[in-house]
Amino acid sequence: MNIILTGATGTLGSKVLYEFLTDKFDEIEKIYLFVRKKGNTSPESRIKKVITSEYAPDTIKKNLDAVLEKIKVITSDDFLNPAAFLSKEETNYFIHSAGYVNLSVNPDQEDEIFNENFGFTKKIFNSYVDYLHKFIYISTAFSIGNMGGVIDNDYLKKEEVTYRNYYEKSKHTTEKFLVEASKEKNIPIQILRPSVLGGNIIDTPTYFISKYMVFYLFAKFFYRSASDDSIRIAVNAEAGLNIIPTDYAAKVIVKVFESDIEQLNIVHSKGTNLLSGMSKIMETVGFNNFSVAKEAVDSTAGYGSLLEKFYYETIGVHLAPYLTSKPYEWDTTLLESILPIPEYDLEEYLVSTIKFAKTKEFRNEKW
Ligand SMILES: NC(=O)c1ccc[n+]([C@@H]2O[C@H](COP(=O)([O-])OP(=O)(O)OC[C@H]3O[C@@H](n4cnc5c(N)ncnc54)[C@H](OP(=O)(O)O)[C@@H]3O)[C@@H](O)[C@H]2O)c1
Repeated sequence: MNIILTGATGTLGSKVLYEFLTDKFDEIEKIYLFVRKKGNTSPESRIKKVITSEYAPDTIKKNLDAVLEKIKVITSDDFLNPAAFLSKEETNYFIHSAGYVNLSVNPDQEDEIFNENFGFTKKIFNSYVDYLHKFIYISTAFSIGNMGGVIDNDYLKKEEVTYRNYYEKSKHTTEKFLVEASKEKNIPIQILRPSVLGGNIIDTPTYFISKYMVFYLFAKFFYRSASDDSIRIAVNAEAGLNIIPTDYAAKVIVKVFESDIEQLNIVHSKGTNLLSGMSKIMETVGFNNFSVAKEAVDSTAGYGSLLEKFYYETIGVHLAPYLTSKPYEWDTTLLESILPIPEYDLEEYLVSTIKFAKTKEFRNEKW
């Protein structure tokens, strides 16, 4: 079998690549990686950095020649040209992990977010469909929008969805497109949806993650803040944020991609309580001057300080919809039958991931 993987320079895709190269090495003929050039760094050099990184498994680094032999980097010239490197007779699995994680609520960004997530996936699917054994799409557990209660794996029957941002809407729209297109073209599809990605819990170094997004951005904002102005943050004290370690998510993906499962949320069985989680983050980054607001804080009511204004004009506007969401939980029965979620204390994990990020000054890996 061959694997075609997008997003291998990303947080999740790099871990999925490591899993394939360690767990499925002998079963895979070739791994095709779609990689863009970055600045002056060629796609091939970027992948070399990923697989020789200090965070790559030793088995990969010790076996480098064979690993390089197994990988073929596809550059943007050939992204939509499968005939250049694939044969229709082979068993080709396409795992589409590339995505644009942008939680903006600014209407000016809607088109870009839709083009990157929906438009790009549509082009890829239509170009590759005749070459594929199966198409696996990495979506997000939040593509169902702000839905309270217990959430199951089937997002495709839900009509009334309140999206928190264009990212969620673009991912859900993509899911719906793929399901319809796969029926029409008679090709199996699988939709896998991680919740918020956090540092490793199984692999070493524990708590490592290659890119600091979502809750890490919140921590980074207050870690870096030169001001100790007071700030009010609206939080639903009943609700939690669902964080899933990236290594666990990658292991699940590599375990299920050949199965008949059509939709699976890769989420924790419990959320980290937002109020206590936020307090722990603030304590870990050394910021104390905050209070919890009952109502949304925005420009209409006026800001209480310059720091508050700066927060709500930058990351606060993206994070507020998540901090004030309805309480929810996911049904993880199917997920846990595939790979049990490791047991650990959620707040200790949160503190440890932020401490790890601090040792790296919240700097993303340069891949
Ligand atoms: N991060 C999260 O918390 C989270 C949570 C749930 C679901 N997800 C989903 O999981 C998937 C992976 O996310 P991630 O966290 O790994 O994201 P990431 O760290 O931001 O990486 C994104 C990856 O996609 C690639 N990519 C983006 N647009 C591309 C394009 N037009 N052409 C080629 N490559 C492109 C990037 O390449 P470059 O390196 O060249 O930019 C990078 O390899 C996404 O589909 C995302 O929606 C993420």
